[in-house]
Amino acid sequence: MSFNVADIRKDFPIFERTIRDGKKLVYLDSGATSQKPLSVIEAESNFYKFNNAAVHRGAHQLAEEATDAYEGARSKVANFLGATVDEIVFTKNATESLNLIAYAMGNAQPGSRFEVTSKDHIVVTEMEHHANLIPWQQLAARTGASLSWFEVTADGRLDLSKIDSVITENTKVVALTHQSNVLGTINPLAAIVKRAHAVGAVVVLDACQSVPHMPIDVTKLGVDFLTFSGHKAVGPTGVGVLWSSVLAELPPFLFGGSMIETVTMTSATWAPAPRRFEAGVPNMAQAVGLGAAIDYLSAIGMDAIFKHEVDLTGYLIDGLLAIPELSIVGPSNTDARGGSVSFTVGQIHPHDLGQYLDSQGVAVRTGHHCAWPLTRKLGVPATTRASLYLYNDESDCDALFTAIMGAQKYFA
Ligand code: ALA
Repeated sequence: MSFNVADIRKDFPIFERTIRDGKKLVYLDSGATSQKPLSVIEAESNFYKFNNAAVHRGAHQLAEEATDAYEGARSKVANFLGATVDEIVFTKNATESLNLIAYAMGNAQPGSRFEVTSKDHIVVTEMEHHANLIPWQQLAARTGASLSWFEVTADGRLDLSKIDSVITENTKVVALTHQSNVLGTINPLAAIVKRAHAVGAVVVLDACQSVPHMPIDVTKLGVDFLTFSGHKAVGPTGVGVLWSSVLAELPPFLFGGSMIETVTMTSATWAPAPRRFEAGVPNMAQAVGLGAAIDYLSAIGMDAIFKHEVDLTGYLIDGLLAIPELSIVGPSNTDARGGSVSFTVGQIHPHDLGQYLDSQGVAVRTGHHCAWPLTRKLGVPATTRASLYLYNDESDCDALFTAIMGAQKYFA
């Protein structure tokens, strides 16, 4: 399939509707959640219509079909990431994946390389989404470990100039985002992974904003854990992924059915990964929907999607910078950045601007984008964020530019 936005939009039923009294829907909020192609919607509903049964349990045909569909989705995710199937855990979303890692590390065997004690140290960055900050704050609070972070420069990049004093001999984990949901910045991983591994720390990558948008091969990234949410990758809500090559060394987080090997009245032993981390009847239909999402993205090609988004981001940035009194918060060129572009417009409050843009059919996100320490650091109370995906084109950006200039007149 060649890259053609008009054709791609036809795959997404939501673009058949209009918004605000007949206006074209200009959806620039894929950083929050992506829209879904019909193939994903149908895969999820067909699972319920034709194959629904509890996986890994029943002795009947439906259970076998459901298990094949669920495990088939796991294989698709593994292939998509360059991983093996036993390295893929299905979770509810990336937030649950990150909590899982933090809890499992908190419960690690004394003496294991994952154990976190009051002598240890956890590193994050100032540009983390709350989902990759608060679980680590809480692990630090539970264990007495210290927490520190890489700072963000004025142009929205990670400041790695003090890397050897930020990541120390006591660092156990370095948790960072691959691509900032606010700034669009794509972080340089090689130096961080090298330093973290040199001191024996593991690297946890929040890839929510990168996996849906660019080709990812976990064997090349060098990180130890990677997470993303299905709903940002044209998949359903309610399914996330945790990839790791070291799952076998971690204790479980949630306990119950399916994750055990043996159980007595007083004790239990655990199934191997990934099942050890999937207690209870899992999100089968959602995982199958995610499998269809991966088929959809793969058929278009992640290289082509990434190229389209980088080109469109350049167009978006140039158009925004041409608007008087508009300031981009984050990198203002396309070097190592993706299609989430945050900005402020003079004295117009982002919430007012968002409402005005909505009145013109343009959907953006406003606020601190679940990264409050970052907006504080950058000295803005909130921003307006336009975030691009494969179904956006220049006409969406043009509609945004026109609507922003309309807002400037309206609020003048
Ligand atoms: N993390 C999502 C966002 O950035 C919800 O909007």
